[in-house]
Amino acid sequence: MPGQVREAEPGPGGGVIRFGRSELRVTVAVNGAVFWGWDGAEPEPSYALAVGCPEPDPRAVLEPDKDGGWRVVAERVTVVVSRHGGLDVCTPGGVVLRRDLPPRWWEPVGGGAARWMQRSEVAADARFFGLGGRAGGPRLRDGSYRLWNSDPGRAFGPGDDPLYLTMPMQLVVADAGAHLVFHDNTWDGTVTLREGEEGAGSGHDRPGRCEVRMEGGPVRGWVIVGTPARVLHTWASLTGAPALPPAWALGHHHARWGFGSEHEVRRIVAGYQERGLPLDSVHLDIDHYEDHQVFTVDQRRFPKLPGLADELRRDGIRLVSIIDPAVRAAPGNAVYDSGSVLDAFVRDASGRTVRGEVWAGESVFPDFTHARVRKWWGDLYEERLDQGFAGFWHDMNEPTSFSAFGEPTLPRSARHALEGRGGDHREAHNVYALCMARAGYEGLRELSPHERPFLFSRSGWAGAHRYGGTWSGDVATGWPGLRASLSLVLGLGLCGVPYSGPDVGGHDGVPSPELYLRWFQLGAYLPLFRTHAGPRAGRREPWEFGPQVLEHAREALLERRRLMPYFVTLAQLARRTGAPYVRPLWWAAPEDRALRDCEDAFLLGDCLLVAPVLDPGVERRAVRLPRGRWYDTLTGTPYEGPAQVLVDAPLSRTPVFAHAGAVLPVRGEDGGTELEVWAPAPGRTGGGLVVPDAGDGWEVAEIERYVARRLGRRVVVTREREDGPEEPSYPVRVRGLG
Ligand code: NOJ
Repeated sequence: MPGQVREAEPGPGGGVIRFGRSELRVTVAVNGAVFWGWDGAEPEPSYALAVGCPEPDPRAVLEPDKDGGWRVVAERVTVVVSRHGGLDVCTPGGVVLRRDLPPRWWEPVGGGAARWMQRSEVAADARFFGLGGRAGGPRLRDGSYRLWNSDPGRAFGPGDDPLYLTMPMQLVVADAGAHLVFHDNTWDGTVTLREGEEGAGSGHDRPGRCEVRMEGGPVRGWVIVGTPARVLHTWASLTGAPALPPAWALGHHHARWGFGSEHEVRRIVAGYQERGLPLDSVHLDIDHYEDHQVFTVDQRRFPKLPGLADELRRDGIRLVSIIDPAVRAAPGNAVYDSGSVLDAFVRDASGRTVRGEVWAGESVFPDFTHARVRKWWGDLYEERLDQGFAGFWHDMNEPTSFSAFGEPTLPRSARHALEGRGGDHREAHNVYALCMARAGYEGLRELSPHERPFLFSRSGWAGAHRYGGTWSGDVATGWPGLRASLSLVLGLGLCGVPYSGPDVGGHDGVPSPELYLRWFQLGAYLPLFRTHAGPRAGRREPWEFGPQVLEHAREALLERRRLMPYFVTLAQLARRTGAPYVRPLWWAAPEDRALRDCEDAFLLGDCLLVAPVLDPGVERRAVRLPRGRWYDTLTGTPYEGPAQVLVDAPLSRTPVFAHAGAVLPVRGEDGGTELEVWAPAPGRTGGGLVVPDAGDGWEVAEIERYVARRLGRRVVVTREREDGPEEPSYPVRVRGLG
């Protein structure tokens, strides 16, 4: 433990406080985020930070506090350090949001990485969110959550933890305010959470508890205080803006492990086209590789892939390729040979390359923590671009190896470059996929400089959103899997990963027509809308489940297409503000406790509230509405929130509500953009933002601001410009006037 306080040395944005056995640096950055680091830990090097550590806030000062403690007072947060090394994170008004007790270290007698542990307390009413993609969330209930990216090895459900993408970042929401804590440490660890309990009547409150135990690595982190929107904005300014998917990636994707041939791909695409079903992308899984080897094509079954890609592109459909990191360890395999010349593959302490077993058989693994290896790997995407692929789906990059090194990944003793610092897999494991994403992203930027790279990755860590999104991985077919799908998207969004979505229908089984449809309907409102499944899981095309499902799936697809300009806007706003497209109901009202516990509905941007059906046999469901007026978008019926309402949810529909006053861009019947405007309540105004699609390149579109005013039975919409309001250039359709 740190021991007793001795002295403090003010510095820019805070200072260093010295204790008997350690020292603590506290620095407030200009963006309002607070860095703290024990034992000499500095903010850098860090895989999470986008462009290094932000400048210190010169207005934040270190000053003496009571009882020998110290405090750093900043505009939005006060950090109080006790004389024993406890750290209180307080609102400017002095309310304690989080109390970190002094950390404890265990230094091995013979040297080496010190394990450490830190306990914290939060308000009795606080709820925990985040920690990456968690199937049992988004509210993280009492339990232990491991920080070690893992392939569960089978299709997973809500009880499975950890999964592919973990992140030592938690968002804590309480009556007194929200805060984010990020332990900037890539090592294996566990976060144990226990929600608090409020003492009824004369009883005492039991605070919420969080215990972080790490197997090594620095004792350091960041705290951000503010509304959820502000916290996520600051998080994005620290870790980078989320990659902006091209518009086509916001449409419908169809994938399958086992299309098996060009002929089958054409058959599926024709199936969509003949039935008038919108389709924007087809994904090819490992079965299109030659003997499962990445960056190859099975010429027998896919003899003219570039031709197929061209043909599809003319119909507005892009091809996406799976990319596995493992490389078959066989001389003569071009990727293996070029990587070997470069010494690209992970070695063990004795200098032998580490071999694992993945789809391609005995394999070696590129060390993506080395800049030279990233460059080599990034260049390999040229072969994919030549084949006509427009997007990339990184898989198996926890990294997974089936052969047992005790667990299905590389041995902990495997060596990694870690950008020249050197270290082993204990430190590199969790950032393996992030570094692979960087390799792919940077390679694509060079190879195809005029197009924004589109990639999404099964695994990742804090910062991977700079390069692309993610997806749920192998979620189990079944109603619990459907629920887990939503939990993952919501939880990841709160971790600053706005683009993700599930495998509609689940990965491993044959969904009932009802389950398939409900999953499809949910997917239609999530950022990544993709049908996909494993080879033995039955089909996933919308026409395989009978005429009724086909009809309702078509409606869901058409609605998704209609909402495309809104999705483009949400993607652009996510890039600029860090706000996820899919948000929990409490996003704008974190103080509303009933909303905090509501996990079966979500906000899609500021305008829409989606209440998917997540259980079988449901024809009606309860929906909790936040404050304000909400219209049922099907019937136009207005409801006044906060309230819980019961609405019809027959198979034909997902209940969706629009916020009164909302102005959202939609695709009109002629294909052009229109403004859909939901009447403000009498005496109120509303508005919305529109960011037009500026193409798949780097051009930055301007944000357009609209205001809706209610004048009696009329609604007037204007575009707000610096030199005054003007008429919108889009057609306006007003709804909700009864
Ligand atoms: C595992 C992935 O999670 C899954 O989506 C994919 O189909 C298989 N690997 C085969 O590539």
